[in-house]
Amino acid sequence: DGSLTRGCLTSATTCTAPACLSCTGNGCNAGLMCRKCDGSQTECATTNASANAYNELCAANQWCRNVLNDNGTVTRSCGDECAANDAKCSSCNNKDNCNEVLFPANARQCYQCTGEACNTVTDSMLKPCSVTKAEGQQCYTSGSDAKTMVRGCTTDGGATCTANTTSCLLCDTENGCNNRTYNVELNKCIKCSDADKCFGAQNAADAVACAGSNFTQTADNCYTQVFDNGTVSRGCVSELQGACDAQSDCSDCAGEACNTQVGTFTCYVCRSDNYPDCRNMKGVGYLPCTNTSLTSPESKQCYSGEWDGIVVRGCLIDLGAAMTYQCYNNADDRCDICSGINCNTEVEKYNGAATLQHMGLGMLALFFLVRNAF
Ligand SMILES: *[C@@H]1O[C@H](CO)[C@@H](O)[C@H](O)[C@H]1NC(C)=O
Ligand SMILES: *[C@@H]1O[C@H](CO)[C@@H](O)[C@H](O)[C@H]1NC(C)=O
Ligand SMILES: *[C@@H]1O[C@H](CO)[C@@H](O)[C@H](O)[C@H]1NC(C)=O
Ligand SMILES: *[C@@H]1O[C@H](CO)[C@@H](O)[C@H](O)[C@H]1NC(C)=O
Ligand SMILES: *[C@@H]1O[C@H](CO)[C@@H](O)[C@H](O)[C@H]1NC(C)=O
Ligand SMILES: *[C@@H]1O[C@H](CO)[C@@H](O)[C@H](O)[C@H]1NC(C)=O
Repeated sequence: DGSLTRGCLTSATTCTAPACLSCTGNGCNAGLMCRKCDGSQTECATTNASANAYNELCAANQWCRNVLNDNGTVTRSCGDECAANDAKCSSCNNKDNCNEVLFPANARQCYQCTGEACNTVTDSMLKPCSVTKAEGQQCYTSGSDAKTMVRGCTTDGGATCTANTTSCLLCDTENGCNNRTYNVELNKCIKCSDADKCFGAQNAADAVACAGSNFTQTADNCYTQVFDNGTVSRGCVSELQGACDAQSDCSDCAGEACNTQVGTFTCYVCRSDNYPDCRNMKGVGYLPCTNTSLTSPESKQCYSGEWDGIVVRGCLIDLGAAMTYQCYNNADDRCDICSGINCNTEVEKYNGAATLQHMGLGMLALFFLVRNAF
């Protein structure tokens, strides 16, 4: 039953190995008790081997050991102290059964279960994989509905899936990453499309859950779409018919209730003289256009251009007349325009050192024009 007694052997006591060990000498019965199991028992790696059925009495001076076998299984036993620097061996002698710990300590752990109860995972379903691999070890979730779910480790015998498919999802971001239910609502967004209020800034508290999605671990993004007639619509990207991109004047964002900003046409806005990364778009933010006329031909267009080595991005409608003219003029390659929200992401043209090939305007005039544009 796992209890341990020590004492002096009398003729009336029977002492038979392996349940009882005897020895001769004062205090010789100080040997440890350790957990014992081997690579043929999957539970030796998948549990802490804490059941008393695993008990083994060690000879005097032996240690408790855990060893990671070459095939990824674990062997626990009494034995010699591990060699220093042997990462695959761990030994202890501080107390009985001190080797009843998860080994290796960083062993991959996945939810492991099958059937209806497996749709909503519980803590007890989180277990170490039965083999430990140095790399490529993932958790999986598979099933075709909420009642036929299977979860486990891809490297374990009987794994029902080993690649992402329509009925199999792999993950290795963290232990227990295979925890999603079959149908899951991931993320909340502001949803509206009315002509009166949807345009304005929204209150994050009004966000509602995105539609449930079967078999996903990927949170939905939120979107804000600006129509030609000036109205705005918001919601979860998965509920949008068609793509959310510059062509559809739609911008999306990740995170709960992230689509609260005033719904208006936006472009990337920056100048490389005060923000050098304007050139390569690193960390550049987008802003609503200052002018919002939706009837002007310049509305819903963005520009990017380079004037005397300075890269400038913004909304075409906010650009002064002289520079707008340059942007429209095909013979003038300083400026490019594009249609659609946040479409002015061109970087290749501005790669490398600042070019000084366009010296048509004097520095002063340029300063005046660019300054005027903002
Ligand atoms: C893994 O290796 C151990 C130790 O060599 C052995 O006892 C065990 O049977 C092996 N297990 C499998 C599944 O091959
Ligand atoms: C999810 O699966 C259930 C049962 O298989 C089905 O009734 C439902 O329509 C599916 N939902 C989606 C969004 O595909
Ligand atoms: C499987 O899909 C998940 C979720 O989309 C993703 O995070 C993971 O990297 C994919 N794994 C492989 C091996 O493609
Ligand atoms: C799944 O795990 C993630 C990350 O640990 C956690 O944020 C999320 O709440 C879990 N989901 C469920 C359904 O347990
Ligand atoms: C504005 O355009 C959108 C998309 O074409 C349409 O769904 C919406 O009804 C229009 N709203 C008004 C007020 O015209
Ligand atoms: C747009 O705004 C700028 C100031 O940002 C102003 O100088 C310009 O005249 C406006 N353009 C139009 C077409 O209203």
